[in-house]
Amino acid sequence: MAMSEVDDRRVQMVRRFNQIFEATPTRLTRAPGRVNLIGEHTDYNEGFVLPAAIDRAAWIVARLRDDRQLRVHAIHYDASAELNLDQLQPGQVHGWPAYIAGMADYLQQAGHALRGADLLIDGDVPEGAGLSSSAALEVATGATLLSLAGIELDRIGLAQAGQQTEHNYIHVNSGIMDQLISAVGKQHHALLIDCRDYSAQPIPLRPDAQLVVCNSKVSRELAGSGYNTRRAECDEAVQLLQAVLPAIKTLRDVSPEQLAQHADLLPPVILKRARHVVSENARVLASAAALRGGDLVRFGALMNEAHRSYRDDFEASVPPIEVLVSAALSVGGVYGSRLTGGGWGGCTVSLVDGGAVERFSSTVATMFEHEIGYTPDIYACVASEGVSVTPLEGGTGR
Ligand code: GLA
Repeated sequence: MAMSEVDDRRVQMVRRFNQIFEATPTRLTRAPGRVNLIGEHTDYNEGFVLPAAIDRAAWIVARLRDDRQLRVHAIHYDASAELNLDQLQPGQVHGWPAYIAGMADYLQQAGHALRGADLLIDGDVPEGAGLSSSAALEVATGATLLSLAGIELDRIGLAQAGQQTEHNYIHVNSGIMDQLISAVGKQHHALLIDCRDYSAQPIPLRPDAQLVVCNSKVSRELAGSGYNTRRAECDEAVQLLQAVLPAIKTLRDVSPEQLAQHADLLPPVILKRARHVVSENARVLASAAALRGGDLVRFGALMNEAHRSYRDDFEASVPPIEVLVSAALSVGGVYGSRLTGGGWGGCTVSLVDGGAVERFSSTVATMFEHEIGYTPDIYACVASEGVSVTPLEGGTGR
């Protein structure tokens, strides 16, 4: 991201903070959204994912208070909330302040002595688009509160607190991918993450190819989508397979061959869900190897296979997403294209030859508008760094 953009945002947010809280902030936090290149619904099955943090983020400017209050203002909603650090409980806070409450609650439960603060929040990750605006807000909040309290940034702990927030404050039984990549992302790299032990291997993205996100603007809150049902279906598959494979703990432990061998144990729908996850894990590992070797043709073919599996076996696609994917694949210079994120709407991610991006954007926009009746948002993404907290000059010194 260009330095002037960061400076502009800092200046604007500090000015706004002065107006709202009549004080000067001491910290600026940035936590990015993400795009997942491949590996969907594998994270809560303790499998593999390959996301990249993107150049869209949640931003917070903040300062300490002398009491136990968190006073929060969200620019995006033009709304404020006030929370007490000693009275945080799931079910008591609703809407966007639940993300703030959840993070503070779980970081405190993890033993961190947080302190009261004033927080001003802004961001440019589109909401409900499958680009993890929620995880970005969670990670930004947690990092800010830890920094203000003088506690060292615990990136994995931040991600875990974010996941607990999703489960108990937002009622989405999410995995940990979104929060982890927002916490540990690396500029110009995708990360191969093992969601069993949270180890992450950076893999460089080739500068001659561009990640392009197309937003269908079909927005689905995960809490109301098929997300939780899919997670339960995966658990059911594990329970049934344990009758013959007692050592398995999650679908991560099942090979494609084992699943084929014991297919008759599973009802047809459960078999399809399991087949997506088991084959997706294999695809993530194969695609990471392809990316490492610079083989974008192979990588793109795996993206396309992943999309078919997500659509046909996991049944997580919707018609406008299908239009985006087929429009993308009709353009020369496109390696692969697929639905990214939690499913049932949101965005596609396409890997496009650097020289073909303009043609890609205009063709996809025209075809989509023709079929669906409105224009999608299309943006080229740059893989960015995970969460960072910067001290601000001229604050009140804490
Ligand atoms: C959402 C969840 C993640 C992950 C993806 C699907 O983004 O928050 O944990 O399960 O869906 O891959």
